[in-house]
Amino acid sequence: MIYLDSNATTQVHPEVVEAMLPFLTTHCHNPSSGYRAGKFVKKAVEAAREEVAALIGAKAEEIAFTGCGTESNNMVLKSLARVVGRKNSRVVTSAIEHSAVLRPCEAMEAVGFEVLRCGVDEEGRLRVDEFAELVDASRPGFASVMWANNETGVTQPIAEACAIAKEAGWGFHTDAIQAVGKIPVDVREVPVDFLSISGHKFHAPKGVGALFLREGLRFEPMLRGGGQEGGRRSGTENVASIVGLGKAAALMREGLERDGHAEVRRLRDHFEERLVGEIEGVRLNGSREHRAGNIVHASFERCEAAGLLILLDEAGVQCSAGSACMTGKQQPSHVQKAMGYSDERARSSLRISLSIFTSAEEVDAAVEAVRKAVAKLRSVQGGGVGPVVVYGG
Ligand SMILES: Cc1ncc(COP(=O)(O)O)c(C=O)c1O
Repeated sequence: MIYLDSNATTQVHPEVVEAMLPFLTTHCHNPSSGYRAGKFVKKAVEAAREEVAALIGAKAEEIAFTGCGTESNNMVLKSLARVVGRKNSRVVTSAIEHSAVLRPCEAMEAVGFEVLRCGVDEEGRLRVDEFAELVDASRPGFASVMWANNETGVTQPIAEACAIAKEAGWGFHTDAIQAVGKIPVDVREVPVDFLSISGHKFHAPKGVGALFLREGLRFEPMLRGGGQEGGRRSGTENVASIVGLGKAAALMREGLERDGHAEVRRLRDHFEERLVGEIEGVRLNGSREHRAGNIVHASFERCEAAGLLILLDEAGVQCSAGSACMTGKQQPSHVQKAMGYSDERARSSLRISLSIFTSAEEVDAAVEAVRKAVAKLRSVQGGGVGPVVVYGG
């Protein structure tokens, strides 16, 4: 099997598994327990917090562990909504957010908040001028814009958007789930108020995430109870997964500091060159300049992505056509629609996402499989693009 769907989820790094195991067995204690074994476990949680903080240039106290990226997004959006209040306020987000931001925004709308969605250009980047018009300094409000898109990998002008929101006195959150661990993210350079992280996107286990909350800002917890995580997220800590998240953060920081995960980018570029050079009618999607280094997002003329995915799966190559959380939906991706793509182009695109575990041999074998799948589909279909089943994360 050739796994090329790392934006959906990643393999847990063997060193992460190793770091976690003792906390599932010997060190099973509750970090809130007062005896020495409990304190030992607490220390491990705090060491993980330091590592996650170091990955994004935060202070350890500014990190709260959560149950997943979706939870991080929900808890911060709900808090901001409560802090800002419904009266005369405005919420601005982008048209290309993940459902873990889109759905909470819809829930806010349902109770009377005004939510505006800023568009993107054909490269998949936020239209900063439009964003500046939507952010209304005369009203209370907050904004949420993702750091890197999960389908295209395109990175957003976060520094500009954050500056506009701050200038208006608004709160600013970013869903950085597809950026953290893959590209440099530093909250000292980009002064966002809140930032969401998910472990399983960078070789930690599923079911653990984190939220960066800048020191001194008001926050209304979603989960109240025993007061863990400084009262920001009650519930007994998922210790083993938190330790795993800390280890993965350390490993990703090493990779970024060493060479910015250069090998992943090299393989991605090689993949793209071969696709464009060897297959007719391939178009690469999204900004070439502003993007995470691990995604190939391409449209294949006269090919349904749904058909390609089936043929690739049969050939042992796993990739996707959009976002996993939309599995089964017969509609073109909202991200590509926002980029102004035709339904046909949107329905004929694949998202191939690499990781630090992807090898050159796998890339070459996958290109061959794509070439064959495209040829087969074009020969049997003779054109025409039908509905697509969208998969992927
Ligand atoms: C951009 C983005 N936000 C949020 C999420 C949700 O993260 P999690 O799966 O940890 O809930 C994902 C993952 O699919 C994502 O890609």
